[in-house]
Amino acid sequence: MSEHKPRKTSEPKPPRSTGWVAEFSNEHALLEAARKVRDSGYTKTDAFTPFPVHGIDEALGIKPTILPFIVLCAGTTGLLTALLMQWWMNGVDYKYIISGKPFGITPASIPVSFELTILFSAFTSVFGMLALNGLPRLSNPIFTNPRFDRATNDRFFLYVDAGDRYYNRESVKELLSSAHPDSLDEVMEDPSPTTLPRPIWLGALLLVLTGLIPAMIVLNMRAGFSDLPRWHVFFDMDFQPKKKPQQTTTIFADGRTMRPQVEGTIARGQLTEQDPFYLGWDPSKVTLAEVRNPILVSTQDTAAQDPVPAQDPIPATEPAKAESAADANPAEAKPAEAAAEQKPADTAVAPASQPPAAPAAGATPNLPWIDRLPIAADEEHMKLGKSKYDIYCSTCHGYSGFGDGLVAQRAASLLQDTWTPPSSLHLDRIQKQAVGQIFHTISKGQGKMASYASSLTPKERWAIVLYVKALQRSRNATIEDVPVEQRSQLSESK
Ligand code: HEC
Repeated sequence: MSEHKPRKTSEPKPPRSTGWVAEFSNEHALLEAARKVRDSGYTKTDAFTPFPVHGIDEALGIKPTILPFIVLCAGTTGLLTALLMQWWMNGVDYKYIISGKPFGITPASIPVSFELTILFSAFTSVFGMLALNGLPRLSNPIFTNPRFDRATNDRFFLYVDAGDRYYNRESVKELLSSAHPDSLDEVMEDPSPTTLPRPIWLGALLLVLTGLIPAMIVLNMRAGFSDLPRWHVFFDMDFQPKKKPQQTTTIFADGRTMRPQVEGTIARGQLTEQDPFYLGWDPSKVTLAEVRNPILVSTQDTAAQDPVPAQDPIPATEPAKAESAADANPAEAKPAEAAAEQKPADTAVAPASQPPAAPAAGATPNLPWIDRLPIAADEEHMKLGKSKYDIYCSTCHGYSGFGDGLVAQRAASLLQDTWTPPSSLHLDRIQKQAVGQIFHTISKGQGKMASYASSLTPKERWAIVLYVKALQRSRNATIEDVPVEQRSQLSESK
């Protein structure tokens, strides 16, 4: 009804008077008494009625509340906040083009501005009303008067608070009795204890702790690790009736989910086996019988993709060991290389004890390699080759191809005797290899080196070959290789 509140007192005993309350049987008597009290100058007053009584504010002298003004300020603040926020976010901090709209404040800013205006105003109205009325308040001393219960039923009460500036116990009593109330009582402070009973505290504590449990679970999951699959609240399409590679099935007689390629067929876009660009060698230069010759199959992982059937891998030799050990240290490479080159590596036959299925380590296939790059030897391909070489090859072969990459260095420092050091790409033997053979090495792997066909497109592989050739050339270049007009620059920079 109004924001008048009785003054709070702190001393608990003896019960203090907080004011006077007069009871009337109808609103006319109440209004009359209220005017009297107002005219005597009292402002800390209040009226309690079972229904809204017209004119009571005026009779009590209650000034219009300032809440609308506060709400207006809050609404304006909300509007400005929204505009400023949108201007900063979209116009300054993160300029993001949305359908070609201008940055900053646009008609599109209206909804947010509107919403924030309403939000700020609504919160201010509610909480401002509560604050101005001194609410929430669980108890009022006036409740100690048993007659007061009828305030919500059929009785009208007028209250004058002891906190009023002009309050005087006797004169207020006199003033109120002059209005002929049905009853006049002094309102005493509520003597009942104000602290909450212990069980309520315990219950509240329990409730708060229980409320923390979900937060703790989430926190634990955010910070911790678990091997368990995540909880599936929504299954989406995570579980489907389907088969994955290497699983078994009852649909086919052989029980394999992964179906072998139908003989004599080629998948779309994979008609590559006749093209030197994808092979590194020219299939038209060999007869079918030669192609079927197992000597042509170089490494382990070829059976799946290789058009050449791999029934009987080549018996292997181990020429790489001695030679590659020296490769790790470029300085010592020269003498060791000479020794290695003397070994008939490419033609030697493995000891009989070697299992026939073992990878053909070190074996070099003998195919009609193409010796011209199928891509242009231009700057673009050289750059591509360098970047791909640096990513995929330098780890082992080193940036300049001496076989001293970080992986090789680390393995050497760990003295792992199972480690096959990567070859120096400057070995005489590898220098002499046709571009097609190096392409084949990247595509199919060679000895202990794996295939890079799945990571690099054929074009990228050829670009790497180009770069490897350039690396090799750089080790054996003479001043004659440098264009005449650039020779002077070379000596300058030295
Ligand atoms: C994980 C280490 C590693 C990476 C990466 C690697 N290689 Fe090799 N490479 C080797 C090893 C080891 C050998 C020696 C293989 C053998 O003889 O068993 C080798 C051998 C070679 C040979 C010589 C083959 C022959 O005929 O003897 C060439 C050429 C070659 N690699 C090129 C490359 C290129 C190009 C790349 C980048 C696409 C590359 N390598 C990436 C480890 C690697």
